[in-house]
Amino acid sequence: MRILVIGNGAREDALAWRLAQSPSCEAVFVAPGNAGTALRHENWPIVATEGRALVARAKDAQIDLAVIGPETAIAAGVADRFREANIATFGPNRSAGRLESSKIFAKRFMERHGVSTAKARIVHSLANAERVLDDWSGACVVKADGLAAGKGVVVTPDVATARAVVREWYGSGRIPGGGSDVLLEEKLDGREVSVFALGDGKRFVPFASACDYKRAGDADTGPNTGGMGAYSPPFGFPGDLHDIVRERILEPVARGLAAENERYVGALYCGLMWTADGPAVIEFNARFGDPETQVLMPRVRGDFARALVSAAHGALEPDSISFADDACVGVVLATADYPRTSTPLAGLPAVLGLSEGKLAFWGGSTLRDGVVDSKGGRVLTLTALGATLAEARANAYDAVDEVGRRLGGAAASLTYRRDIAALPPTA
Ligand code: AMP
Ligand code: GLY
Repeated sequence: MRILVIGNGAREDALAWRLAQSPSCEAVFVAPGNAGTALRHENWPIVATEGRALVARAKDAQIDLAVIGPETAIAAGVADRFREANIATFGPNRSAGRLESSKIFAKRFMERHGVSTAKARIVHSLANAERVLDDWSGACVVKADGLAAGKGVVVTPDVATARAVVREWYGSGRIPGGGSDVLLEEKLDGREVSVFALGDGKRFVPFASACDYKRAGDADTGPNTGGMGAYSPPFGFPGDLHDIVRERILEPVARGLAAENERYVGALYCGLMWTADGPAVIEFNARFGDPETQVLMPRVRGDFARALVSAAHGALEPDSISFADDACVGVVLATADYPRTSTPLAGLPAVLGLSEGKLAFWGGSTLRDGVVDSKGGRVLTLTALGATLAEARANAYDAVDEVGRRLGGAAASLTYRRDIAALPPTA
């Protein structure tokens, strides 16, 4: 099978790396790809949202399966273009992808189909928001409707702060994501976990789960980011986590999609808050997570390509894959001013020479004459396996030290969290 992976992040580097090792995979191409995928596969210089150009090249290259990484490509209808061209595609059409691209669509969908989620009010103007907040008590989560690359959610402790956020958004005319609608949502208490399912258009099968670290600083301080690290499997959740999620979330979502004539083929990322009453959905994403994918792929065994192509053909074969019992921890190295800006870094070594069991996945970057130019932001995800979470964590931070030595002076421009997968002392 000849596979095209669409996207340019560390997530796509990890997906391509695992797909290439699948027995059923003959070759992997990545568009536009990054330095890591340039080393291991073949990159095509086409951006992820250019559906028609991607399809034309995919036809020439006789691609059998397209795997779509980023939400921007889903929202741009890239999967729709591939399906029109009869190329098997893993990633939902634009319409089903609204579970991620519109928080209002997702919220109303969950309400229609009895999926547990935070209660929310939808507002369309500042006056509307002010009226709703007049009657609000307690903490309030303010969310922009559209795709905002992690910048569209503010968790506020009280009404006054929530009011300041909506005044700033509406007053400046700059609501993150560019829309005009906002959700005011009840704040849920509990622990967060990301559960990934594979959808084949008829059902969702739980795939794997992970915990990620969204805030920039140690001990969950600083601004929200795309994710500064992750580990898998999650620690401290019920052993039958996947069964609970299947019954309470995945099955009602599948029934709801069928009732609304939506066909969802691809990864469904359930961002959950595990509350005293069990899981409630914080958000859906219509794709794999970044950096969660970087810690899931090293644990996958079997024929991952076959799992994805069987889903794309409408009959998922879940038994084509399994997961190693090992834990995996991933630490993101980011430029110091991330997420405020992304400062490019030029001239990094392409081969990082990590010792056994450790992997480096590149974020947005290019490879030229054996040297990497990074766009900055999330530069690298370093991952390591271990028999226990503690061992995986120690190995991952060893990888950070190894890469730090290899990068020499450039390491000074990078920052990372020191507390990824650090569990309470009682764990
Ligand atoms: P989202 O982009 O929807 O994942 O939101 C970003 C982060 O904000 C989540 O990972 C949570 O930590 C937090 N968050 C969002 N919605 C809620 C909520 N209703 N209650 C508590 N925290 C939330
Ligand atoms: N790790 C968060 C995301 O992929 O959206």
